[in-house]
Amino acid sequence: KNIEAFQRSLLQWYQKNKRTMPWRDIENPYYTWVSEIMLQQTRVDTVIPYFLRFIEKYPTVKDLAKGEDEDLLKLWEGLGYYSRVKNMKIAAREVVEKYDGVFPKERKALESLKGIGEYTAGAIASIAYEQKEPAVDGNVLRVMTRITGNHGDIKLGKTKKEITHGVRKLLPEENLGDFNQGLIELGAVLCTTAKAPDCEICPVSEFCLAFEKNLQGALPVKGKA
Ligand code: ADE
Repeated sequence: KNIEAFQRSLLQWYQKNKRTMPWRDIENPYYTWVSEIMLQQTRVDTVIPYFLRFIEKYPTVKDLAKGEDEDLLKLWEGLGYYSRVKNMKIAAREVVEKYDGVFPKERKALESLKGIGEYTAGAIASIAYEQKEPAVDGNVLRVMTRITGNHGDIKLGKTKKEITHGVRKLLPEENLGDFNQGLIELGAVLCTTAKAPDCEICPVSEFCLAFEKNLQGALPVKGKA
């Protein structure tokens, strides 16, 4: 409907209601990367102390590139999915060798780093560098299928492409990091997996097709595959 009104409502809500997290509001691509990798399979409350210990031991990507595997695994103990931290060390070395220790800004360059996929590349580009790039994780898929009334299976690449394209068209000219984190935060705190999410206090319910048609419980469609 009115894209600028949507952007304003979401940004205003996020800036007022965002939860405090140690990696937020610090424009440091290394912090964004570490937090986003940790958050991939782990909840925010669990991640916070791990994140703080991690950046205390390895304050920069150069420190991480020199890290000992044994120390790294120890810091990761309890988070699981150890391939994440193994890939991080490989990526850290690439950033040091190819980019002189500074994360690149471009999505494609970010995606070429070990362990960085479409979502993480978009998160780093937008949150740390204010690039006009979408960052579509499970939260954003849920929020956007509801807003647009998309009944596609969110496990399918086709649906993810449609949603990513939809987000791209909604991106504002500035505050990209806050906009993308606003979508994520909305999915985490209001537009939850519940059959009855908190639409009454949602800042963008007036733009939401699922809300209008009372389809919140039916979306997103999630196949078995
Ligand atoms: N989950 C994944 N990325 C996140 C972020 N930036 N903020 C909150 N939750 C998240």
